[in-house]
Amino acid sequence: MSHAPVVPVLTIDGPSGSGKGTISALVAERLGWRLLDSGALYRAVGYAAGAAGLDLSDVEAMTRCAQGTRIQFRAAGDGGATRVVVNGHDATDELRTETAGAAASAIASMPPVREALVALQLGFRKAPGLVADGRDMGTVIFPDAAYKVFLTASAAERAKRRYKQLKEKGLSVTLAGLQREIEARDSRDASRAVAPLKPAEDAVLVDTTGMGIDEVVAKVLAVVRS
Ligand code: DC
Repeated sequence: MSHAPVVPVLTIDGPSGSGKGTISALVAERLGWRLLDSGALYRAVGYAAGAAGLDLSDVEAMTRCAQGTRIQFRAAGDGGATRVVVNGHDATDELRTETAGAAASAIASMPPVREALVALQLGFRKAPGLVADGRDMGTVIFPDAAYKVFLTASAAERAKRRYKQLKEKGLSVTLAGLQREIEARDSRDASRAVAPLKPAEDAVLVDTTGMGIDEVVAKVLAVVRS
């Protein structure tokens, strides 16, 4: 009897602003593996719910929305960031806003919403391998992953990074306000009953405070190559 080879998975979990998105994309590119940006799924559902004028605190409505939202990732033609298409609309820019992040965090605390997104996430596991970026990739979605990393950075450092990104986009934000938002979201994500943000027991912890992108990428690649 032949068994299909197991597709290797590298999970990269951690709080927002730990650099997960950037690092996951670079590592996936270096390995030639696929990428799952699971946060984008929660953001997309929150965005679709908002666009439809639904009540974000209504668990049943949010669950139906998670089940019914069509989410597609499309490579940008110019080699730029992957586009996220939600129900046929390119919502890439809207999904990166703080409003979308807050909506995502709210609906991500609802167990049936998380359940509705499981099969979609498992479907990303295809040869030659998958880099899965999120909060519960190593603990809930891919507990059997061969490689697990948990990225952290101090809240002050994460606020600074986010501040720089948003300023570059010309948005008006304050550093103190961002740090407060980051701390509030961290505690919501870490204290929720379902899939709380915590490192898998077998994850390698990498604190990226004061580290450059190349250095973090090298550390994560070393986990896969070790
Ligand atoms: O990684 P991100 O900032 O795009 O995630 C947005 C929100 O979605 C965040 O508040 C936590 C939630 N999320 C989650 O609960 N589980 C995941 N696997 C990914 C994101």
